[in-house]
Amino acid sequence: MKIIAYGIRDDEKPYLDEWVKDNSVEVKAVPELLTEDNIDLAKGYDGVVAYQQKPYTDGIFKKMDEFGIHAFSLRNVGVDNVPVESVKKYNIKVSNVPAYSPSAIAELSVTGLMSLLRRIPTFEDKMSKGDFRWAPDIAQELNELTVGVVGTGRIGRAAMDIFKGFGAKVIGYDVFRNPELEKEGIYVDTLDEIYAQADVITLHVPALKDNYHMLNDDAFSKMKDGVYILNYARGSLIDTDALIRALDNGKVAGAGLDTYENEVGIFDVDHKGEKITDDVFNNLFARDNVLITPHAAFYTTKAVKNMVQISLNNNKSFIENGRADNEVSFD
Ligand code: COI
Repeated sequence: MKIIAYGIRDDEKPYLDEWVKDNSVEVKAVPELLTEDNIDLAKGYDGVVAYQQKPYTDGIFKKMDEFGIHAFSLRNVGVDNVPVESVKKYNIKVSNVPAYSPSAIAELSVTGLMSLLRRIPTFEDKMSKGDFRWAPDIAQELNELTVGVVGTGRIGRAAMDIFKGFGAKVIGYDVFRNPELEKEGIYVDTLDEIYAQADVITLHVPALKDNYHMLNDDAFSKMKDGVYILNYARGSLIDTDALIRALDNGKVAGAGLDTYENEVGIFDVDHKGEKITDDVFNNLFARDNVLITPHAAFYTTKAVKNMVQISLNNNKSFIENGRADNEVSFD
């Protein structure tokens, strides 16, 4: 059995080598991301493992089919960049890693909120200029706030546990309710109730057609004044122009963002010595009440190890048995 893995970074290599040793399977590690230009390298292999934020294109799967490869395993959770029509047309089985570390994402979202509430970026900026005064940057305490968690899957639940640990009141919304949380009575019936009651709104849902720009002008208008917004999920959930308007008029007091709707080409790229030309991004980036991280919530040793090794397990299982624990159903 031979597997080819694309976009392998140096930090993933030791986990890949460990897996190869434990499983006696040949794995070729390719540093470049998977494209139609380098899919030919996969000829002669039995399965493909990949991770990237760029869309996977039809031509990739057409070639895989020609090479007799029908096992495609993602190292990440989101499948929004996989063309459903193409994988169905070429009969490609797809797996993801749905729970590489829900805490990794949850911990960074709480960190973002705490940093904003306690004005860390503002104090850093003031102190770097020699101003060590407190005022006017007084904080709010999380234990006095209501946090509205949109999406109560694994990540949302991990975030809830941490918020509860800080003493916050937590309410949740999800189309699919978790029975344990239901017993605790944390659910509200509508997003509008989240908007009306929450001092902090944190998004933990996948990107779907139905939730594109779910936080838009209308949604912001229904929120409490001075609300905090956290998006450590997918950029497309927020209409960024609407967020900027809500920051400008004070409706939104601050935003913690690990995703941005046009992030490909901005995040995980070295921009030293050059200007980022996206004015909408630059507008957000210049604000000290907007904390941006470059889609790095997943980037922990535990998560990266799981992403590499679970995706390889899935790929091996597809090749051996035609099925995998984390097969994605697109129906
Ligand atoms: C995902 O797992 O889908 C993510 O968003 C993390 C990715 C940047 C590796």
